[in-house]
Amino acid sequence: MNTNSLYIASMEPEAGKLLITMGIMEYLSRRIEKVAFFRPVIDESRGADKDINLIRAKYCPDMSYEECYGFDTEDVKLFASQGNLKEFYVKLLDHFNRLLQQYDFVLCEGLNSSGFLASFNININLEIAKNLGSSFIAVISGKEQDDGAIQEEIKIAANIIKKSACHHFSTFVNRIPSNTHETMIQSKLQSHYAYPVFLIPDNNELDKPTLSDIQNHLNAACVMGSSDDLYRVVRQVKIATMTVEHFLGYIEDGDLIIVGGDRADILLASITTLSSHNYPNLAGILLTGGFTPEANMLKLLKGMELPIPILSVPHDTFNTTRQVETISAVLNAENQRKIALALGLFDTHVNAEMFFNRANISICRTMTPIMFEHNLFERAQTRRMTIVLPEAGDERILRAVEILLRRQVVDVILLGNEDEIRSHSASLGLDIEQASIINPAQSELLPHYTDTLYALRKHKGLTPEAAADAMLDGSYFATMMVHLGQADGMVSGAVHTTGDTIRPALQIIKTSPGTSVVSSVFFMCLETEVLVYGDCAVNPDPSAEQLAEISISSAATALLFGIEPRVAMLSYSTGSSGKGKDVDKVREATLIAQRKCPDLLLEGPIQYDAAISPEVARSKLPESKVAGNASVFIFPDLNTGNNTYKAVQRSSGAIAIGPILQGLKKPVNDLSRGCLVADIINTVAITAVQAQSLLSSSAVSSAQGQSLAEKEKSTGESHQQ
Ligand code: ACO
Repeated sequence: MNTNSLYIASMEPEAGKLLITMGIMEYLSRRIEKVAFFRPVIDESRGADKDINLIRAKYCPDMSYEECYGFDTEDVKLFASQGNLKEFYVKLLDHFNRLLQQYDFVLCEGLNSSGFLASFNININLEIAKNLGSSFIAVISGKEQDDGAIQEEIKIAANIIKKSACHHFSTFVNRIPSNTHETMIQSKLQSHYAYPVFLIPDNNELDKPTLSDIQNHLNAACVMGSSDDLYRVVRQVKIATMTVEHFLGYIEDGDLIIVGGDRADILLASITTLSSHNYPNLAGILLTGGFTPEANMLKLLKGMELPIPILSVPHDTFNTTRQVETISAVLNAENQRKIALALGLFDTHVNAEMFFNRANISICRTMTPIMFEHNLFERAQTRRMTIVLPEAGDERILRAVEILLRRQVVDVILLGNEDEIRSHSASLGLDIEQASIINPAQSELLPHYTDTLYALRKHKGLTPEAAADAMLDGSYFATMMVHLGQADGMVSGAVHTTGDTIRPALQIIKTSPGTSVVSSVFFMCLETEVLVYGDCAVNPDPSAEQLAEISISSAATALLFGIEPRVAMLSYSTGSSGKGKDVDKVREATLIAQRKCPDLLLEGPIQYDAAISPEVARSKLPESKVAGNASVFIFPDLNTGNNTYKAVQRSSGAIAIGPILQGLKKPVNDLSRGCLVADIINTVAITAVQAQSLLSSSAVSSAQGQSLAEKEKSTGESHQQ
């Protein structure tokens, strides 16, 4: 069966179909260039559709909001009351077919189970799916159910789908209590069905609202707090009516304190708990009655850089609390923490390969930026590597680590004082429980690391004292961890300079066999393609020999990340037209690279326009397989490379991922000091993929070495006979 659309619908309210939609969308966007999202019917009386907003922002940025839906529920009611549902289906099909003409795949999400349409909701979803010719994915809620009840529901859903004559693609049971989930997995329940059944356990945090959900629902004013802090999860609500000394005894982790805005005593006591190691971490404070802190109090608070938000509403405490208790959690595109949690849950419990093999989806050969980024995670997850991050004092690192752990992309080691790091992360409302933390100064590894560094560098004049000093530096310690195999890769540079980050690697890890120069590439994510630029960060003025090596390493890096290498050796002249020492260097580098890798598609010297534009290429180098079609661009020196990547980044809005170092025996990567959390996440995932590849190539070479040794041994033995 070849599928170009799927239809997801819940069989009951609160089944959590958005998590399933997101998990499937994530997978599709790694493999298919143009994926559309379509909701046949939305309920506009509740405001803009949240699912459309999330999926558009994350996966379908080119789709307009209007393209993503067919009708409002009011329209459907009208069609139904006029006995004219046929027209509704015909118009829906027209819209859907238009999407199919423009996109390679359409993922549909059915109607919500609410309001008037709830009475025929399931049937209407099945009817729509059948009319669109989409295979049906049923989502069932396992919340607070035992395995017997869940199995019954799975069968009932299958019967309903069968009767509708829709093609039943698969069933997801979501929000299963964890003990029931375990029992069901152990009994291998999934193998009893003719269609794939996926079981996803309940996750407490996904159900809990964030401060941002509460702020939006109550239309609360934000007295203080950053946007990151608004994504703290509210685990429970406490109403502060007692005196301070009694109130303090009730505080728990993740509390939202609701208190009259005139209770300065409670406000101050709550804030004081934030700096006490003996108190749990609050999620936020909600001031009621329209009172906000008076000027002096505000001055005091603003000077403290509070890690939690303070919100304010005009209503009284009683009514506010009643409203807060009805607020449900919302998944939106800005809440990266919850998205990571949801996708991590999906990836852990859904065998995506099995799911999609059933759909026989044709895979795209090009690599769009969305595909590139989404692929990175999947590649990293295939074999979990351990990445060490020495700059644990930086908030961005901690935020990135939480997401990496939630998505189960890598295992993480942080360097620094464990108590300080854990308490800093808890005060930010983050969960980095699964990260290992090593304090270099107190580590039992320190003496061995110091001795190793001294042994490696004493011929360069390093003294034992200087080695001991260097090892207290996070970059050196982390690099040594990678060198000695305690970690598979290192990512640093959010705080340190490029030189400080990579110098230890150059001194300790050194270049991989057959390579003499460490260089770098940037993945330049343009609107519809990803280009590779090298070397824009390390070698100020490479020789022709080094430039040749950089081109070969860059081609290998491109290939490792799914980009077919067609290498342009850039210069200010194309072909044989130009003369001068700089062009000659590029010409010589081209010849060396072609000699070393005769099968590599490589052209040089070539100007940027001839390398990228088919029209210019036709007039300047009509015979070339690279000109007009290059994917890897090698710059003659750091001045040109660094300025060009920044110019393209700033003037075209391209996302530049890198610099990614290449040529080292084991991976170390540098961040820029202005990096965002997303940059750190991408760089760690890239480092993990590099580590996987270096491990497999060293496994291949050691297997080759072993078989060579065995061969030699057996030859030796046969000679002796
Ligand atoms: N490949 C392999 N080994 C190298 C390389 C290289 N490219 N460069 C230096 N080494 C080795 C040296 O051989 C030496 O080894 P040894 O001590 O065992 O003999 C060791 O590394 C240290 O060499 P130095 O030349 O002393 O290294 P130095 O401290 O000068 O700097 C560095 C190396 C940091 C890479 C330097 O070349 C540099 O500063 N490059 C530019 C970085 C930069 O500013 N980039 C732009 C900003 S980044 C951005 O915009 C994203």
